[in-house]
Amino acid sequence: MASFTLPKNSRITGKGQVHKHVPSNAEGSPAGGRLKQFRIYRYDPDSGANPRYDTFELDLDQCGPMVLDALFKIKNEIDPTLTFRRSCREGICGSCSMNVNGTNGLACTMAIEDLKGDIRITPLPHMEVIKDLVPDFTHFYAQYASIEPWLQTVTTTPSGKERLQTPEQREKLDGLYECILCACCSTACPSYWWNSDKFLGPAILLQAYRWLADSRDEMTGERLDALEDPFRLYRCHTIMNCANVCPKGLNPAKAIAETKKLIVERAM
Ligand code: SF4
Ligand code: SF4
Ligand code: FES
Repeated sequence: MASFTLPKNSRITGKGQVHKHVPSNAEGSPAGGRLKQFRIYRYDPDSGANPRYDTFELDLDQCGPMVLDALFKIKNEIDPTLTFRRSCREGICGSCSMNVNGTNGLACTMAIEDLKGDIRITPLPHMEVIKDLVPDFTHFYAQYASIEPWLQTVTTTPSGKERLQTPEQREKLDGLYECILCACCSTACPSYWWNSDKFLGPAILLQAYRWLADSRDEMTGERLDALEDPFRLYRCHTIMNCANVCPKGLNPAKAIAETKKLIVERAM
């Protein structure tokens, strides 16, 4: 159920810590460096304290080029308690999704020099926070499991071995299979913010369409039955935030529209 105000213990209160850049002798004076401030959302459930923003000043001449590099610099050299997810550092795993200056994206593919002024980093919006920049994906993954994201068949393969596709059939999966389940789209979708308990959201609906579009899958009718629901599918109002933020350049809104089309076509 949508909540329009933050619970008391989620409100940002109090002053965060400020970590000014301290140059070593080898680096020279702070005036000589390219200083940038990173304001980072901090929340530690064990402390009992409300969330806060801490400020870290970094010399960009001493830091890698990406937002993820800055987070590593802070964690390794200033505050080892800073918590965030990451794995591949090249836009493949989807782990480092977060909100940077108001836009969802992958920290490892966002260049610091493309971001003007101070940089504000928060967890993905409208998800419960486990710690600092780590949101709780339990519900998101349960929704993913609910669409049964694997190939389902009833017939045996003609060859007794593989299920073949023509190049044209395979091409229909382009723009779908590349999804890395980072949730940038779902957490940018206003309909998902207000109805995530029932609406599957753009990421999961794109994944659902990935199996509807697969020529080898034989459960199309059952899959459409499971989606044909006023909330699971039809809370999408084509606002297009999802397509605008997807770091892989995918278009979940289009996949949702194609799914709705399949439902209309089978009723005719
Ligand atoms: S197009 Fe649909 S799924 Fe995408 S952001 Fe808008 S309402 Fe959400
Ligand atoms: S569609 Fe794009 S933004 Fe959404 S989960 Fe997949 S990769 Fe991430
Ligand atoms: S660390 Fe894997 S996508 Fe960023």
